[in-house]
Amino acid sequence: MSNQALTNPSQLILRNSSELECKRLLMVGMPADGLAENLIDESIVESIHGLTSDYSVFSTIDSNWQNSEQLTLEFGSALKEASGSYDGALVFLQKSKPLMDFWLDMIHPLLSETGTIWLVGQNGEGIKSWRKKLKERYDCVRNFDNARHCGLIDASEAKKGASVFSVDKYWSEFNLDVNDKELKIHSLPGVFSHGRVDVGTKVLLETLDRVPEGPVLDFGCGAGVISAFMAASQPGNKYTLVDVDALALSSSEATMKLNEVANFEVKATDGLSEVEGSFKMIISNPPFHQGVKTHYAVTEQFLKQTANRLFKGGELRIVANNFLRYELIIQEAFGNCERLVTKDGFTVYKAIKK
Ligand SMILES: C[S@@+](CC[C@H](N)C(=O)[O-])C[C@H]1O[C@@H](n2cnc3c(N)ncnc32)[C@H](O)[C@@H]1O
Repeated sequence: MSNQALTNPSQLILRNSSELECKRLLMVGMPADGLAENLIDESIVESIHGLTSDYSVFSTIDSNWQNSEQLTLEFGSALKEASGSYDGALVFLQKSKPLMDFWLDMIHPLLSETGTIWLVGQNGEGIKSWRKKLKERYDCVRNFDNARHCGLIDASEAKKGASVFSVDKYWSEFNLDVNDKELKIHSLPGVFSHGRVDVGTKVLLETLDRVPEGPVLDFGCGAGVISAFMAASQPGNKYTLVDVDALALSSSEATMKLNEVANFEVKATDGLSEVEGSFKMIISNPPFHQGVKTHYAVTEQFLKQTANRLFKGGELRIVANNFLRYELIIQEAFGNCERLVTKDGFTVYKAIKK
């Protein structure tokens, strides 16, 4: 049995594990804990195919799963092959409702006729409200268990006529209009600022009246808004767009292609873990979530490391909510930090690598 600490949702699953017995289990959006290994070791399921859109989860559990022939794992927005048949699907509630809807649509046609889908998540994140959504797709939906501040819902008897799943149906396209530039942005459900440009990002772009020549790193690229904007005035640059989220990476790739940017690369990373090389400019509207500590940690770590990834004379430019205190960290790492603008609740900071 894996001795990795289990999250509360995984503990709830494990205490109901005998109910989950099946041959082929599809596991979607799971935390980076040892639940899958436990289910295999206890012979609850014969094999598990996992899908995560979170590169930090993927990079944590991938090597463990590779040690087992019964476990296979994909990093991506949706399953590469949306075909086949699973007799069970276990879905972990995501914060993003559009992403949940997207994944429920993906799973619906993949369950066998007698298959069951299990949905588990924290009470505080609204697990109960998903009963209604499941009822749109399944005839039999039950609240199965509630413990450790989490709920477990099961649903079976899939309604007939589920259409073949295709990611193409879920793209949203919107226009970006800043500093006389008109760009088209493509984004998938759950990606930051899906369908519109974020206010903070807009404030950041308005400070970019001159885009430097040289390689650019767009950290936490989301739908690729920042790089698409920069490439419109500096098309010769190489743009490296990185994000932890697979849907963000697909969106960024689509946005760059849509705007005919020739020289770019999109890359999955957790912080700067997979970023190689040095840059003339590192630009970001970095991740944060009010009250969630880990998100501050990612950005603080990123700010401390960026100076080492810039050429001499290279620039870090970020936008952040006024209440975030990044100035000191930047000052400490670079020995300088300038406030370019404060507007609409956001501040844009600039630092130069000496
Ligand atoms: C505030 S959004 C900005 C998105 C986009 N640049 C824009 O301005 O619209 C921050 C982005 O950081 C990404 N992110 C969160 N944690 C990350 C991590 N550990 N490593 C890399 N990117 C991360 C999120 O997925 C999200 O796309």
